[in-house]
Amino acid sequence: MKRILITGGAGFIGSHVVRRFVKNYPDYQIINLDKLTYAGNLLNLTDVEGGSNYEFIKGDIVDAAFITELFTTYQFDAVVHLAAESHVDRSIASPMEFVMTNVIGTVNLLNAARENWKGDYSKKRFYHVSTDEVYGALGESGMFTEATAYDPHSPYSASKASSDHFVRAYHDTYGLDVVISNCSNNYGSHHFPEKLIPLAINNIKNNKAVPVYGKGENVRDWLWVEDHARAIDVIFHQAKAGETYNIGGHNEWKNIDLIKLLCKLMDQKLGREEGASAQLITYVTDRAGHDLRYAIDSSKLQQQLGWVPSLQFEEGLAKTIDWYLENEQWLDDVTSSNYQSYYETQYAER
Ligand code: NAD
Ligand code: DAU
Repeated sequence: MKRILITGGAGFIGSHVVRRFVKNYPDYQIINLDKLTYAGNLLNLTDVEGGSNYEFIKGDIVDAAFITELFTTYQFDAVVHLAAESHVDRSIASPMEFVMTNVIGTVNLLNAARENWKGDYSKKRFYHVSTDEVYGALGESGMFTEATAYDPHSPYSASKASSDHFVRAYHDTYGLDVVISNCSNNYGSHHFPEKLIPLAINNIKNNKAVPVYGKGENVRDWLWVEDHARAIDVIFHQAKAGETYNIGGHNEWKNIDLIKLLCKLMDQKLGREEGASAQLITYVTDRAGHDLRYAIDSSKLQQQLGWVPSLQFEEGLAKTIDWYLENEQWLDDVTSSNYQSYYETQYAER
């Protein structure tokens, strides 16, 4: 049996990765380690809770002694590392939390893996989940490839770039078996409503202003979150040690065009007059250092490992809206922090 540590498994993408691994690999023992910050939510995983190959542990990757002890106790075969502070606006307001979790936390995990695996990496793997934001910003044309030079601009992307460098350094210096993937913007269910798409859905639903930064001309490349989880699965199992893969949807949208499409779909779903939701669009002060455009060239992943995105954007967006409209309680809980008490009620006795 493979014992796999997934960090950040109570977050948006992590919960999709945990669900996929628990359901698709009954022979694996999946240990989900998460600090349960504001973004971590065990209500994302009620369908796998209680599974015989799943265990949740509450803990902080910044706590080096705890991480060392965890590796000694569990003797993990592999790590899939997603835990991070993930929101760019928060990193602008409070960079140090990003340094602590994204840089120090990652190095703590690398140290524990290296010490525990003692140079025998033949059946071990450290998978670091990263972002396309490490490459900086594109102009009107071009795409990020795996060979694009790092040029991060926000405290968030600088912290992720730093952690990527540490992961590669542990491969080059100590021979640790590592793989890294850099993915574009994800969307789908269980996305915390501080990020553009769930925030807009929630605000439109509640007839509140939809804030568009600057002129709304920044471009993002959107990928269905379950396609990202499937890419992680494929790369985890098939990539050679030391490899990097870009993951993206080939699905570029200007923010304002995306918001207008979302408003149109919401009008239909909510039975509103056409154009009603678009009246909520409100242009606000731009994000500091706002990257103009991201676009991912994922041809390496497509050609070498056969992964392709599965869902058209309008279909994915419609499914996402349906999920949020059908899960009002989830939205109410995460916006009022009610979900934080779920851990105490479910796990207090353990
Ligand atoms: P998220 O904010 O939804 O979830 C992060 C999770 O990490 C939460 O459950 C949180 O409780 C946990 N966490 C935070 N600090 C921790 C700590 N110190 N110790 C243990 N757990 C901690 O983030 P997400 O959007 O799911 O992103 C997951 C990963 O994917 C991140 O590494 C992010 O950089 C990367 N990524 C995200 C996107 C995206 O579009 N969201 C795209 C590419 C890459
Ligand atoms: O590219 C991958 C990255 O995508 C991940 O690494 C990050 O963890 C993830 O948060 C995401 O970063 P972005 O900054 O691109 O996502 P966000 O949803 O915050 O913003 C998307 C775009 O929408 C961006 O250009 C800023 C803009 N925006 C955002 C918000 C929250 C608005 O115009 N209004 C808003 O209210």
